[in-house]
Amino acid sequence: MSSPRPDAPIGIFDSGVGGLSILRAIRQQLPDEDILYLADQAHVPYGLRSLLEVRAFSTGITRYLLEQDVKLIVVACNAASAAALRYLRATFPDIPTVGMEPAVKPAAEQTNSGVVGVLATPATFQGELYASVIERFAQGVTVLQHTCPGLVDEIEAGRVNGVETRRILEHAVQPMLAQGLDTVVLGCTHYPFVIPLIQEIVGTDVRVIDPAPAIARQTARLLDQFELRSTSSDAGKTRYLTTGNPIMFASLLDGLLGESGEVWQVSWGKEITADERG
Ligand code: DGL
Repeated sequence: MSSPRPDAPIGIFDSGVGGLSILRAIRQQLPDEDILYLADQAHVPYGLRSLLEVRAFSTGITRYLLEQDVKLIVVACNAASAAALRYLRATFPDIPTVGMEPAVKPAAEQTNSGVVGVLATPATFQGELYASVIERFAQGVTVLQHTCPGLVDEIEAGRVNGVETRRILEHAVQPMLAQGLDTVVLGCTHYPFVIPLIQEIVGTDVRVIDPAPAIARQTARLLDQFELRSTSSDAGKTRYLTTGNPIMFASLLDGLLGESGEVWQVSWGKEITADERG
């Protein structure tokens, strides 16, 4: 691989639209960077798959993004980070890589009640990364955890405020509330899209931690460290790719970020142009 170029885009990937919560924060922090976003919607959800399978997808996507000449990769997916972050850094040492880990550290620092709740998918809870985060940062704090079965599917369908979405969240959060939680950590990048609903359920006294701003700051730090800030005067564009249905993705883009954008379909290594799609 040749060394990353400052004027190349930042590559961001997730199993689906969850990484858009990270993209939004990165664009706020780094408005003058081009971004290439890849949603692996042919394989969403990742959270119910084995770590080995998610690692294989993450490796394939990383290779693909490198072929597209990205200068830095953001693994905007907790499940993929749990399954593959260490492996990706070892396999592709020349590309700076930012990954997700549940924000237990700030939660443990900020809690008053000493009870913190983590919401994430099974894959994230299984990974070594989560165990190490708990070991490093949760001393003296009670950490409760809960999966939210079906929530990623609801968000992928754009139902951020639906009856089923509320039911799933209440089921996850109410037992934690009963145990005195005052801080909720979102350990899945899809979940920030339902923060208003979570906040409605837990009340305004409970803090909900969205990791996206911290990930955006870390991305900026790495760009500085590797001298990779864009120098181009017309940068700041985002290009979207999905392995799923580009029309569906475009409508989610509108629903979740309130923007329209051209979405390209990719199937491992092969990009289908708008013309070929007909
Ligand atoms: N958004 C992802 C995460 O942060 C993956 C969710 C899924 O596909 O299950 O874990």
